[in-house]
Amino acid sequence: MRVMVTGGAGFIGSALVRHLVGTVGADVLNIDKLTYAGNLASLSSVENAANYRFLRADICDRAAMQEAFASFRPEIVMHLAAESHVDRSISGAGDFIQTNIVGTFSLLDAARGYWDGLEAEAKSAFRFLHVSTDEVYGSLGDDGLFEEVTAYDPSSPYSASKAASDHLAIAWHRTYGLPVVVSNCSNNYGPFHFPEKLIPLMILNALEGKPLPVYGNGANIRDWLYVEDHARALFTIASRGRPGEKYNVGGRNERRNIEVVERICAILDSVFPGKEAHSRLITNVTDRPGHDARYAIDATKLETELGWKAEENFDSGIEKTVRWYLDNEWWWRPLRDNVYSGERLGTFKGR
Ligand code: NAD
Ligand code: DAU
Repeated sequence: MRVMVTGGAGFIGSALVRHLVGTVGADVLNIDKLTYAGNLASLSSVENAANYRFLRADICDRAAMQEAFASFRPEIVMHLAAESHVDRSISGAGDFIQTNIVGTFSLLDAARGYWDGLEAEAKSAFRFLHVSTDEVYGSLGDDGLFEEVTAYDPSSPYSASKAASDHLAIAWHRTYGLPVVVSNCSNNYGPFHFPEKLIPLMILNALEGKPLPVYGNGANIRDWLYVEDHARALFTIASRGRPGEKYNVGGRNERRNIEVVERICAILDSVFPGKEAHSRLITNVTDRPGHDARYAIDATKLETELGWKAEENFDSGIEKTVRWYLDNEWWWRPLRDNVYSGERLGTFKGR
Protein backbone atom coordinates (compact mmCIF):
# COMPACT_ATOMS: atom_id res chain seq x y z
CA MET A 1 0.00 0.00 0.00
CA ARG A 2 1.45 3.37 -1.04
CA VAL A 3 0.63 6.19 1.39
CA MET A 4 1.53 9.84 0.79
CA VAL A 5 1.76 11.78 4.07
CA THR A 6 2.06 15.57 4.19
CA GLY A 7 3.53 17.19 7.31
CA GLY A 8 5.18 13.92 8.34
CA ALA A 9 8.07 15.71 10.08
CA GLY A 10 5.69 17.37 12.55
CA PHE A 11 4.38 16.11 15.88
CA ILE A 12 1.38 14.03 14.75
CA GLY A 13 2.75 13.39 11.25
CA SER A 14 5.93 11.80 12.62
CA ALA A 15 3.90 9.53 14.95
CA LEU A 16 1.80 8.56 11.94
CA VAL A 17 4.84 7.87 9.72
CA ARG A 18 6.45 5.74 12.47
CA HIS A 19 3.15 3.79 12.72
CA LEU A 20 2.74 3.35 8.95
CA VAL A 21 6.37 2.36 8.30
CA GLY A 22 6.95 0.28 11.44
CA THR A 23 3.58 -1.34 12.24
CA VAL A 24 1.42 -1.20 9.11
CA GLY A 25 4.29 -1.87 6.69
CA ALA A 26 3.04 0.64 4.10
CA ASP A 27 5.29 2.32 1.51
CA VAL A 28 5.39 5.91 2.72
CA LEU A 29 6.29 9.14 0.95
CA ASN A 30 6.59 11.94 3.50
CA ILE A 31 6.25 15.43 1.99
CA ASP A 32 7.25 18.24 4.33
CA LYS A 33 8.53 21.80 3.90
CA LEU A 34 10.45 21.62 7.21
CA THR A 35 9.21 24.83 8.78
CA TYR A 36 10.29 25.64 12.34
CA ALA A 37 7.91 22.83 13.43
CA GLY A 38 9.25 20.15 11.09
CA ASN A 39 12.05 18.02 12.50
CA LEU A 40 13.60 15.00 10.79
CA ALA A 41 15.11 13.94 14.13
CA SER A 42 11.61 12.74 15.06
CA LEU A 43 11.91 10.18 12.24
CA SER A 44 15.38 8.81 13.00
CA SER A 45 13.88 5.40 13.89
CA VAL A 46 12.50 4.93 10.34
CA GLU A 47 14.74 7.09 8.15
CA ASN A 48 16.69 4.12 6.76
CA ALA A 49 13.70 1.82 6.27
CA ALA A 50 13.27 0.51 2.70
CA ASN A 51 9.57 1.47 2.76
CA TYR A 52 10.18 5.14 3.70
CA ARG A 53 11.19 8.14 1.60
CA PHE A 54 11.21 11.88 2.17
CA LEU A 55 10.54 14.81 -0.16
CA ARG A 56 11.23 18.32 1.04
CA ALA A 57 8.54 20.42 -0.67
CA ASP A 58 5.86 23.03 0.00
CA ILE A 59 2.27 21.83 -0.49
CA CYS A 60 1.55 25.25 -2.07
CA ASP A 61 3.95 24.33 -4.91
CA ARG A 62 1.45 22.87 -7.36
CA ALA A 63 4.06 21.59 -9.84
CA ALA A 64 5.97 19.78 -7.08
CA MET A 65 2.74 18.19 -5.83
CA GLN A 66 1.74 17.06 -9.35
CA GLU A 67 5.18 15.53 -9.83
CA ALA A 68 4.95 13.74 -6.46
CA PHE A 69 1.56 12.23 -7.39
CA ALA A 70 2.80 11.15 -10.82
CA SER A 71 5.97 9.49 -9.57
CA PHE A 72 4.77 7.95 -6.26
CA ARG A 73 1.24 7.00 -7.42
CA PRO A 74 -0.36 6.97 -3.92
CA GLU A 75 -3.35 4.81 -3.03
CA ILE A 76 -3.98 6.89 0.09
CA VAL A 77 -3.13 10.54 0.86
CA MET A 78 -3.02 11.64 4.49
CA HIS A 79 -2.84 15.43 4.65
CA LEU A 80 -1.46 16.81 7.92
CA ALA A 81 0.81 19.65 6.74
CA ALA A 82 -0.34 22.85 8.42
CA GLU A 83 0.60 25.76 10.59
CA SER A 84 -0.76 24.43 13.88
CA HIS A 85 -0.12 26.83 16.78
CA VAL A 86 -3.02 29.09 17.81
CA ASP A 87 -0.78 31.69 19.52
CA ARG A 88 1.36 32.09 16.38
CA SER A 89 -1.80 32.58 14.32
CA ILE A 90 -2.76 35.46 16.62
CA SER A 91 0.68 37.08 16.20
CA GLY A 92 0.50 36.73 12.39
CA ALA A 93 -2.03 34.82 10.29
CA GLY A 94 -0.35 35.01 6.86
CA ASP A 95 1.39 31.61 6.91
CA PHE A 96 -1.83 30.00 8.22
CA ILE A 97 -3.89 31.35 5.33
CA GLN A 98 -1.20 30.33 2.86
CA THR A 99 -0.45 26.78 4.02
CA ASN A 100 -3.75 25.74 5.59
CA ILE A 101 -6.07 27.17 2.94
CA VAL A 102 -4.08 27.76 -0.26
CA GLY A 103 -1.86 24.71 0.38
CA THR A 104 -4.87 22.45 0.95
CA PHE A 105 -6.42 23.74 -2.28
CA SER A 106 -3.18 23.05 -4.17
CA LEU A 107 -2.96 19.50 -2.80
CA LEU A 108 -6.65 18.73 -3.42
CA ASP A 109 -6.40 19.90 -7.00
CA ALA A 110 -3.19 17.95 -7.65
CA ALA A 111 -4.90 14.88 -6.12
CA ARG A 112 -7.95 15.40 -8.32
CA GLY A 113 -5.83 15.62 -11.49
CA TYR A 114 -4.03 12.38 -10.60
CA TRP A 115 -7.21 10.57 -9.47
CA ASP A 116 -9.07 11.53 -12.69
CA GLY A 117 -6.51 9.55 -14.67
CA LEU A 118 -6.78 6.29 -12.64
CA GLU A 119 -8.50 3.10 -13.82
CA ALA A 120 -11.99 2.53 -12.34
CA GLU A 121 -10.91 0.11 -9.60
CA ALA A 122 -8.00 2.24 -8.37
CA LYS A 123 -10.23 5.29 -8.61
CA SER A 124 -12.86 3.90 -6.26
CA ALA A 125 -10.26 2.54 -3.79
CA PHE A 126 -8.36 5.88 -3.60
CA ARG A 127 -8.73 7.94 -0.38
CA PHE A 128 -7.75 11.50 0.55
CA LEU A 129 -7.82 11.99 4.34
CA HIS A 130 -7.90 15.64 5.36
CA VAL A 131 -6.71 15.87 8.98
CA SER A 132 -8.38 18.60 10.98
CA THR A 133 -9.17 19.78 14.46
CA ASP A 134 -12.05 20.05 16.91
CA GLU A 135 -11.29 23.81 17.12
CA VAL A 136 -13.39 24.35 13.98
CA TYR A 137 -16.49 23.82 16.16
CA GLY A 138 -15.65 26.79 18.42
CA SER A 139 -16.23 26.71 22.16
CA LEU A 140 -18.53 24.58 24.34
CA GLY A 141 -20.29 25.65 27.54
CA ASP A 142 -20.24 23.45 30.65
CA ASP A 143 -22.25 20.67 28.97
CA GLY A 144 -22.39 18.87 25.64
CA LEU A 145 -19.88 17.39 23.24
CA PHE A 146 -18.75 18.17 19.69
CA GLU A 147 -20.46 15.81 17.23
CA GLU A 148 -19.79 15.46 13.52
CA VAL A 149 -22.95 17.50 12.86
CA THR A 150 -22.01 20.38 15.18
CA ALA A 151 -22.00 23.67 13.26
CA TYR A 152 -18.63 25.29 12.54
CA ASP A 153 -17.88 28.38 14.67
CA PRO A 154 -14.08 28.93 14.75
CA SER A 155 -12.56 31.58 17.03
CA SER A 156 -8.88 31.97 16.11
CA PRO A 157 -7.13 32.68 12.80
CA TYR A 158 -5.77 29.10 13.07
CA SER A 159 -9.16 27.45 13.55
CA ALA A 160 -10.77 29.67 10.91
CA SER A 161 -8.09 28.60 8.41
CA LYS A 162 -8.65 24.93 9.29
CA ALA A 163 -12.43 25.37 8.95
CA ALA A 164 -11.89 26.84 5.47
CA SER A 165 -9.69 23.89 4.51
CA ASP A 166 -12.33 21.39 5.78
CA HIS A 167 -14.95 23.08 3.57
CA LEU A 168 -12.60 22.88 0.57
CA ALA A 169 -11.96 19.18 1.18
CA ILE A 170 -15.70 18.35 1.41
CA ALA A 171 -16.41 20.53 -1.66
CA TRP A 172 -13.84 18.54 -3.68
CA HIS A 173 -15.82 15.43 -2.77
CA ARG A 174 -19.28 16.84 -3.47
CA THR A 175 -18.33 18.62 -6.69
CA TYR A 176 -15.63 16.45 -8.26
CA GLY A 177 -16.30 13.10 -6.56
CA LEU A 178 -12.78 12.91 -5.04
CA PRO A 179 -13.00 10.27 -2.26
CA VAL A 180 -12.28 12.64 0.63
CA VAL A 181 -12.66 11.78 4.33
CA VAL A 182 -12.21 14.40 7.10
CA SER A 183 -11.11 13.79 10.70
CA ASN A 184 -11.52 16.32 13.52
CA CYS A 185 -9.40 15.57 16.57
CA SER A 186 -9.00 17.01 20.04
CA ASN A 187 -5.71 18.10 21.68
CA ASN A 188 -2.85 15.65 21.22
CA TYR A 189 0.11 15.13 23.55
CA GLY A 190 3.03 12.73 23.78
CA PRO A 191 6.66 12.34 22.61
CA PHE A 192 8.22 14.65 19.97
CA HIS A 193 5.75 17.49 20.71
CA PHE A 194 7.24 20.87 19.76
CA PRO A 195 7.77 22.82 23.01
CA GLU A 196 5.49 25.75 22.16
CA LYS A 197 2.34 23.80 23.10
CA LEU A 198 1.06 23.69 26.70
CA ILE A 199 2.28 20.26 27.84
CA PRO A 200 5.88 20.18 26.51
CA LEU A 201 6.36 23.87 27.37
CA MET A 202 5.33 23.25 30.99
CA ILE A 203 7.56 20.17 31.29
CA LEU A 204 10.66 21.92 29.95
CA ASN A 205 10.07 25.18 31.85
CA ALA A 206 9.62 23.18 35.06
CA LEU A 207 12.81 21.19 34.42
CA GLU A 208 14.68 24.48 34.00
CA GLY A 209 13.02 26.15 37.05
CA LYS A 210 11.26 28.75 34.86
CA PRO A 211 7.72 30.15 35.38
CA LEU A 212 4.80 28.02 34.13
CA PRO A 213 2.53 30.57 32.39
CA VAL A 214 -1.13 29.60 32.76
CA TYR A 215 -3.41 31.77 30.61
CA GLY A 216 -6.24 33.49 32.52
CA ASN A 217 -7.49 31.50 35.51
CA GLY A 218 -6.53 28.09 34.08
CA ALA A 219 -10.16 26.90 34.00
CA ASN A 220 -10.25 26.32 30.21
CA ILE A 221 -10.86 22.67 29.36
CA ARG A 222 -9.19 20.57 26.67
CA ASP A 223 -9.86 16.91 25.79
CA TRP A 224 -6.46 15.16 25.64
CA LEU A 225 -5.54 12.29 23.31
CA TYR A 226 -2.22 10.44 23.28
CA VAL A 227 -0.62 10.99 19.88
CA GLU A 228 -0.11 7.28 19.11
CA ASP A 229 -3.85 6.70 19.59
CA HIS A 230 -4.45 9.47 17.06
CA ALA A 231 -2.01 7.90 14.56
CA ARG A 232 -3.93 4.59 14.76
CA ALA A 233 -7.23 6.43 14.36
CA LEU A 234 -5.97 8.25 11.27
CA PHE A 235 -4.94 5.06 9.49
CA THR A 236 -8.27 3.44 10.44
CA ILE A 237 -10.21 6.39 9.00
CA ALA A 238 -8.06 6.67 5.87
CA SER A 239 -8.32 2.97 5.05
CA ARG A 240 -11.93 2.26 6.12
CA GLY A 241 -13.76 5.60 6.43
CA ARG A 242 -16.60 6.36 4.04
CA PRO A 243 -15.95 9.03 1.37
CA GLY A 244 -17.67 12.34 2.10
CA GLU A 245 -17.90 11.57 5.84
CA LYS A 246 -16.37 13.30 8.85
CA TYR A 247 -15.09 11.41 11.91
CA ASN A 248 -14.43 13.01 15.30
CA VAL A 249 -11.42 11.67 17.23
CA GLY A 250 -10.99 12.05 20.98
CA GLY A 251 -10.05 10.14 24.10
CA ARG A 252 -12.72 11.27 26.60
CA ASN A 253 -10.06 12.85 28.79
CA GLU A 254 -11.27 16.34 29.65
CA ARG A 255 -9.01 18.31 31.98
CA ARG A 256 -8.83 21.94 33.10
CA ASN A 257 -5.49 23.49 32.08
CA ILE A 258 -4.55 24.10 35.70
CA GLU A 259 -5.14 20.40 36.50
CA VAL A 260 -2.81 19.44 33.63
CA VAL A 261 -0.05 21.74 34.87
CA GLU A 262 -0.46 20.62 38.48
CA ARG A 263 -0.28 16.96 37.38
CA ILE A 264 2.96 17.62 35.46
CA CYS A 265 4.38 19.30 38.57
CA ALA A 266 3.38 16.36 40.78
CA ILE A 267 4.99 13.81 38.43
CA LEU A 268 8.18 15.88 38.30
CA ASP A 269 8.19 16.12 42.10
CA SER A 270 8.48 12.33 42.19
CA VAL A 271 10.79 11.62 39.21
CA PHE A 272 12.88 14.85 39.24
CA PRO A 273 12.63 16.14 42.82
CA GLY A 274 14.00 19.55 43.77
CA LYS A 275 14.19 21.37 47.11
CA GLU A 276 10.73 22.88 46.57
CA ALA A 277 7.56 21.67 44.84
CA HIS A 278 7.47 22.45 41.09
CA SER A 279 3.96 23.92 41.51
CA ARG A 280 5.61 27.05 43.02
CA LEU A 281 6.48 27.97 39.41
CA ILE A 282 2.82 28.22 38.28
CA THR A 283 2.10 31.81 37.24
CA ASN A 284 -1.20 33.20 36.00
CA VAL A 285 -0.66 35.46 32.97
CA THR A 286 -2.98 37.53 30.74
CA ASP A 287 -5.44 35.41 28.82
CA ARG A 288 -5.16 34.34 25.17
CA PRO A 289 -7.34 36.65 23.02
CA GLY A 290 -10.44 34.76 21.87
CA HIS A 291 -9.60 31.86 24.20
CA ASP A 292 -12.11 29.00 23.73
CA ALA A 293 -13.50 27.84 27.09
CA ARG A 294 -14.02 24.13 26.52
CA TYR A 295 -13.46 21.44 23.90
CA ALA A 296 -14.84 17.91 24.28
CA ILE A 297 -15.26 15.26 21.59
CA ASP A 298 -17.95 12.66 21.04
CA ALA A 299 -16.03 9.89 19.24
CA THR A 300 -18.97 7.44 19.12
CA LYS A 301 -19.08 7.32 15.30
CA LEU A 302 -15.43 6.33 14.99
CA GLU A 303 -15.73 3.86 17.87
CA THR A 304 -18.88 2.10 16.67
CA GLU A 305 -18.52 2.34 12.88
CA LEU A 306 -14.79 1.67 12.57
CA GLY A 307 -14.02 -0.03 15.90
CA TRP A 308 -11.28 2.36 17.07
CA LYS A 309 -10.76 3.03 20.78
CA ALA A 310 -8.17 5.11 22.62
CA GLU A 311 -5.74 2.80 24.46
CA GLU A 312 -4.02 5.37 26.65
CA ASN A 313 -5.75 7.29 29.44
CA PHE A 314 -4.53 10.72 30.48
CA ASP A 315 -2.94 9.62 33.78
CA SER A 316 -0.76 6.93 32.17
CA GLY A 317 -0.09 9.00 29.03
CA ILE A 318 1.05 12.13 30.83
CA GLU A 319 3.43 10.14 33.03
CA LYS A 320 4.95 8.43 29.96
CA THR A 321 5.26 11.84 28.30
CA VAL A 322 7.05 13.51 31.21
CA ARG A 323 9.48 10.58 31.43
CA TRP A 324 10.06 10.76 27.65
CA TYR A 325 11.17 14.43 27.92
CA LEU A 326 13.46 13.56 30.85
CA ASP A 327 15.09 10.79 28.77
CA ASN A 328 15.30 12.61 25.43
CA GLU A 329 17.09 15.89 25.93
CA TRP A 330 18.97 15.13 22.66
CA TRP A 331 15.68 15.82 20.85
CA TRP A 332 14.44 18.95 22.62
CA ARG A 333 17.65 20.76 23.64
CA PRO A 334 18.49 21.99 20.09
CA LEU A 335 14.91 23.25 19.70
CA ARG A 336 14.99 25.17 23.00
CA ASP A 337 18.46 26.60 22.23
CA ASN A 338 18.07 27.40 18.52
CA VAL A 339 14.41 27.46 17.43
CA TYR A 340 12.09 28.57 20.25
CA SER A 341 13.09 29.20 23.84
CA GLY A 342 9.63 29.58 25.36
CA GLU A 343 8.82 33.31 25.21
CA ARG A 344 5.14 34.35 25.26
CA LEU A 345 3.44 34.30 21.85
CA GLY A 346 0.03 35.50 20.70
CA THR A 347 -0.44 38.77 22.52
CA PHE A 348 -0.84 42.14 20.84
CA LYS A 349 -1.12 45.75 21.89
CA GLY A 350 -4.52 46.53 23.37
CA ARG A 351 -5.24 43.01 24.68
P1 NAD B 1 3.06 20.48 13.63
O1 NAD B 1 3.06 21.97 13.65
O2 NAD B 1 3.80 19.75 14.69
O3 NAD B 1 3.60 19.94 12.23
C1 NAD B 1 3.21 20.50 11.00
C2 NAD B 1 4.14 19.95 9.93
O4 NAD B 1 3.72 20.50 8.66
C3 NAD B 1 5.60 20.37 10.11
O5 NAD B 1 6.45 19.26 9.91
C4 NAD B 1 5.82 21.43 9.04
O6 NAD B 1 7.16 21.49 8.57
C5 NAD B 1 4.85 20.97 7.96
N1 NAD B 1 4.43 22.07 7.07
C6 NAD B 1 3.98 23.29 7.43
N2 NAD B 1 3.72 24.03 6.34
C7 NAD B 1 3.97 23.25 5.27
C8 NAD B 1 3.88 23.44 3.87
N3 NAD B 1 3.45 24.61 3.34
N4 NAD B 1 4.23 22.42 3.05
C9 NAD B 1 4.66 21.23 3.55
N5 NAD B 1 4.80 21.01 4.87
C10 NAD B 1 4.44 22.00 5.72
O7 NAD B 1 1.51 20.07 13.63
P2 NAD B 1 0.80 18.84 14.34
O8 NAD B 1 0.47 19.24 15.73
O9 NAD B 1 1.56 17.61 14.07
O10 NAD B 1 -0.58 18.83 13.53
C11 NAD B 1 -0.69 18.09 12.31
C12 NAD B 1 -2.09 18.28 11.76
O11 NAD B 1 -3.06 17.82 12.70
C13 NAD B 1 -2.45 19.73 11.45
O12 NAD B 1 -3.21 19.74 10.26
C14 NAD B 1 -3.29 20.15 12.64
O13 NAD B 1 -4.21 21.14 12.27
C15 NAD B 1 -3.98 18.86 12.99
N6 NAD B 1 -4.35 18.67 14.40
C16 NAD B 1 -3.45 18.90 15.40
C17 NAD B 1 -3.81 18.65 16.73
C18 NAD B 1 -2.85 18.84 17.87
O14 NAD B 1 -3.24 18.72 19.03
N7 NAD B 1 -1.57 19.09 17.63
C19 NAD B 1 -5.10 18.20 17.01
C20 NAD B 1 -6.00 18.02 15.96
C21 NAD B 1 -5.61 18.24 14.66
O1 DAU C 1 -7.94 21.04 19.92
C1 DAU C 1 -7.00 20.69 18.95
C2 DAU C 1 -5.94 21.77 18.87
O2 DAU C 1 -5.13 21.63 20.03
C3 DAU C 1 -5.09 21.64 17.60
O3 DAU C 1 -5.89 21.87 16.47
C4 DAU C 1 -3.94 22.65 17.63
O4 DAU C 1 -3.10 22.46 16.51
C5 DAU C 1 -3.14 22.42 18.90
O5 DAU C 1 -2.12 23.38 19.00
C6 DAU C 1 -4.06 22.51 20.12
O6 DAU C 1 -4.54 23.86 20.30
P1 DAU C 1 -4.64 24.55 21.75
O7 DAU C 1 -4.67 26.00 21.57
O8 DAU C 1 -5.72 23.94 22.57
O9 DAU C 1 -3.23 24.04 22.36
P2 DAU C 1 -2.13 24.80 23.25
O10 DAU C 1 -1.17 23.74 23.69
O11 DAU C 1 -1.58 26.00 22.58
O12 DAU C 1 -2.97 25.28 24.51
C7 DAU C 1 -3.70 24.35 25.31
C8 DAU C 1 -4.41 25.15 26.39
O13 DAU C 1 -3.43 25.68 27.30
C9 DAU C 1 -5.16 26.35 25.86
O14 DAU C 1 -6.34 26.51 26.63
C10 DAU C 1 -4.21 27.52 26.09
C11 DAU C 1 -3.46 27.11 27.34
N1 DAU C 1 -2.05 27.56 27.45
C12 DAU C 1 -1.22 27.36 26.39
C13 DAU C 1 0.11 27.72 26.46
C14 DAU C 1 1.04 27.53 25.29
C15 DAU C 1 -1.60 28.13 28.63
O15 DAU C 1 -2.37 28.30 29.59
N2 DAU C 1 -0.29 28.50 28.70
C16 DAU C 1 0.59 28.34 27.65
O16 DAU C 1 1.78 28.74 27.78
